[in-house]
Order: sequence, then C-alpha cells, then structure tokens
Amino acid sequence: MQQNDSITSRRKKEHLELCLTDEVSFNNKTNGFEKYDFLHYAITEVDINKITFETKFLNKKISYPFLISCMTGGVDVSESINAKLSVAANELNIALGVGSQRQALENKSFHHTYKIIRRNAPGIPILGNIGAAQIAEMSERSRLKSGKSFDTVQYLVDLVEADGMVIHLNPAQELMQPEGDILQKGLLKSITKLVKNLKVPLFVKEVGSGISKFAAKKLLDAGITGIDVAGAGGTSWTGVEILRNKGSATNEFWDWGLPTSYCIKEIFRLKKKYKFTLVGSGGINSGVEAAKAIALGADIVASARIILQELNKNGAEGVVKLVNKWFDTVRKIMYLTGSNSLQELRKNKIVEKGSLY
Ligand SMILES: Cc1cc2nc3c(=O)[nH]c(=O)nc-3n(C[C@H](O)[C@H](O)[C@H](O)COP(=O)(O)O)c2cc1C
Repeated sequence: MQQNDSITSRRKKEHLELCLTDEVSFNNKTNGFEKYDFLHYAITEVDINKITFETKFLNKKISYPFLISCMTGGVDVSESINAKLSVAANELNIALGVGSQRQALENKSFHHTYKIIRRNAPGIPILGNIGAAQIAEMSERSRLKSGKSFDTVQYLVDLVEADGMVIHLNPAQELMQPEGDILQKGLLKSITKLVKNLKVPLFVKEVGSGISKFAAKKLLDAGITGIDVAGAGGTSWTGVEILRNKGSATNEFWDWGLPTSYCIKEIFRLKKKYKFTLVGSGGINSGVEAAKAIALGADIVASARIILQELNKNGAEGVVKLVNKWFDTVRKIMYLTGSNSLQELRKNKIVEKGSLY
C-alpha cells in the first residue's frame, strides 16, 4: 500500500497527539453551562423506567441523541481509531462523523481509514466532512470549469456511504496556521449551490469557536439542514495550532469564540422560523452538560476530544460505558425536572443561576 505522508496527513497526526493531552482546553473561557441550573420539580410523576431517548437523525433512529463528532481519517493511525469509534457507535446505536476528508481528495492511499466506519457500523447515521476552504475553492474551480467541483463532494459522501455531509467552518484555526487557508471568498454562495447539488442533507459545523445567530440565519437561508454550534469552552483549535507552531498559551486568540451555551440558546430562537436540526457541542464532557445542552434547545449533542481520550484509555468498551453513564445521568435529571420526554426537557426546565438568588 502506498503511504503518502502529505502535509494534510502529518497535520492530522499532530492534531491527534495534541488532543490526547489536556493542554488544548480553553484557558479562561468556559462553555457557560455552569451558569445554569435545572428547575427541581418536587411533585414529579415521571416513570423513570419509561423514559426513552430514541431520536430521529438523518432519517435513522438512534438510541441516544448523541453524535461522536468528526475527528479523523487520512493518516495511518486513523484506521484503528475509526475502527474502534465505529464499533462503539454501532453498539450504542448513535451517530458518528468522519474526520475531514480533505486527504481523501489528494489520493486514495488512505481511503481505507475512512471506509472502515461504514464497514463496522452498517446501520448508524454517518456524516461525511470537508472544510469551508475546500468548498470555497470548488466554487472558483467550477466557475473556471476546471478541476474539482461540487461533484467531488458527492464523491466524498459515496466514499463513506454517508447519510449527510458536514462542512466545517474554522476560520480562527486556519488563521493560526502558517499554512492555513484563509481565503473563503464565495463560501456562502458555494454552500447554497452545494445544497442543491448534493443527494444528502447538508450540515455546517464550527470546530470550537461557535456559530452566532446571525451566521446561522444566513446558513439556513442558504438551505442547510443542520447546524452544529461547536462552541467555545471545550477544545481550543486556535490553541492546538498555537502549540503546533511552538507559540505560547498567552496568545490573545487562544480563547477566541462564542460559548457553547450561548450559541445553542441564540440559534434555538431561529426554530420559530426555520426547520433544522440543532446539534449542541463544544466541551460537552458530562451527562449534566449534555442535559443542559438539550434543555437549552439542542436536538442532539456531540463530543469529540473526551471521546478520543476515553477511547485511548479504555477502548471502544470505555466509550460505550461513558455514553451510557452520561445518559443515565440525563435520565435522572429528566425525572427530577418532571420531563417525560426530551421535548419536555426542552420546555422551561433550566434557569440562569443568577435568578435563583
Ligand atoms: C482529534 C480531533 C480531530 C478533529 N478533527 C476534525 C475534523 O477533521 N473535522 C471537523 O469538522 N472537526 C474536527 N474536530 C473538531 C470536533 O469535531 C469538535 O467540533 C471540536 O473538537 C469541539 O468539540 P470538543 O470540545 O468536544 O472537543 C476534531 C476534534 C478532535 C478532538
């Protein structure tokens, strides 16, 4: 097998190594969930054993409203990570995102590192993944009628037999990379075109700097199906790039971004006008945080780095145990807030702590 260690592959390897450490958390900014508390409901009549988390995502039924966020593919070590992640996701019957498929566009050497996911998890919802910069570039190429165009995105979908595609927006991360792609001219126009050309639903996500209500509205007007806020307070992707380039944790962009809780709360308001799936992510590292994200309006929640770390420590079995434990906590919170269903948990079950004093 040809091993083509391109810049893209090497960068992915460095990202994986840094994300196994705790050095890439935000310094002084949190995801904001600690500012909220649940409204205890003393006369709960909820039958805790009848609570079900079954949720529809990308036209498939999943057992928990949970997505393992896009992480890897395109480098040798990715195969075993994706193999284990997909075994865990399959056992839990939850959704899984593949890591950026940019490398898969460069050559076929590492296609197997992505394909392993569908092989191990034939029935779960899978999201393909590509960067905003690559999409913007395609728009220019299709205008010039040369090279890779929007058909390439469908090719990436087919490669992993995905149920949906996600574009990652990461301008802050790219800005911190000396080799970063910071020209995103025509991005929104390309997204609009892509929605029309793609055979599967299109999602958009950040990677840890969050999405504002204003940006979300523009994306929804472009026709996308889902938004994953990937807000600030979990993994700092500016931090990852600063460390890769031997910079200091005091860099003024380390903590850049909108906290996860703020993004969910703000974007949820758009549900009055638009129909879309809202994914809450960015530093969701416990069952309590998952429940708070849902209570603030997320349809499903997602996590990345904590899952990678658990996988590294305790394998697929560890990830299965962790997610089961989180949702056991969510179940107890639903009982104590008088929420028979996830829909009820989203209805006035959470308050800002300040209002309690
Ligand atoms: C090791 C690692 C690799 C990642 N690679 C990608 C990627 O290829 N594409 C992408 O959209 N997001 C990627 N992300 C970002 C995550 O999907 C997620 O949005 C972000 O880390 C915030 O979630 P967290 O705080 O739970 O880690 C990666 C995250 C990790 C930890």
